[in-house]
Amino acid sequence: MPGPTLIAPSILSADFTRLGEQIQTCQHAGADWIHVDVMDGRFVPNLTMGPFIVQACRRVTDLPIDVHLMVETPERLLDAFARAGATNLTVHVETCPHLHRTLQIIHELGCQAGVVLNPGTPASHLDPVLHLVELVLVMSVNPGYSGQSFLPEVLPKVKYLRGRLDEINPSAWLEIDGGMNTQTISLAWQAGARAFVASNAIFNHPKGIVAGIQELRACLSA
Ligand code: DX5
Ligand code: ZN
Repeated sequence: MPGPTLIAPSILSADFTRLGEQIQTCQHAGADWIHVDVMDGRFVPNLTMGPFIVQACRRVTDLPIDVHLMVETPERLLDAFARAGATNLTVHVETCPHLHRTLQIIHELGCQAGVVLNPGTPASHLDPVLHLVELVLVMSVNPGYSGQSFLPEVLPKVKYLRGRLDEINPSAWLEIDGGMNTQTISLAWQAGARAFVASNAIFNHPKGIVAGIQELRACLSA
């Protein structure tokens, strides 16, 4: 399959007693980004990590850190995550009444700006800002937990966004997040995604993290 692709292990399912070691294993296995799922217990039911964890990740890897903010009023946290070492800051369109301004702030902080859509949110909501972003993320599960099943109904949205980005912002990454495994990653690639977040398929792979990353990668080069 031609063209660059990225694999971004999400540390949500990592063993937090060995987080540094597991991130380094991901890097040695060829991971491209480290994905950090920030959840506030309000926008999504789960409560996870803050800037302190990003800072810890930054100390053990030089890979880009892809921060996915599943929080209400993300503007209040952007500066803290940027200072902690985030590379990409991705905000949910559902949480940002002033989305254009929020993306400008991310750029002013020196980070790459991303926007993300829940499965129930139409892709057209992003039309006014697609030219401004470095990353568009499509959720293929309802965000909150690792290990959920892929929702194939988001594939038309991925296709639509691939077409729009090819027209107006071809250098932006089109990323997909949720339920990635050796079957679903190929479907997502065919629809036009080029960056793939995976947690369960990597950190809970029966043969370990390296095998998990290699198996996903093999699906992208077959
Ligand atoms: C969804 C998170 C995802 C999630 C992916 O709530 O944004 O990044 O951890 O996990 P898997 O790959 O296990 O579906
Ligand atoms: Zn995520």
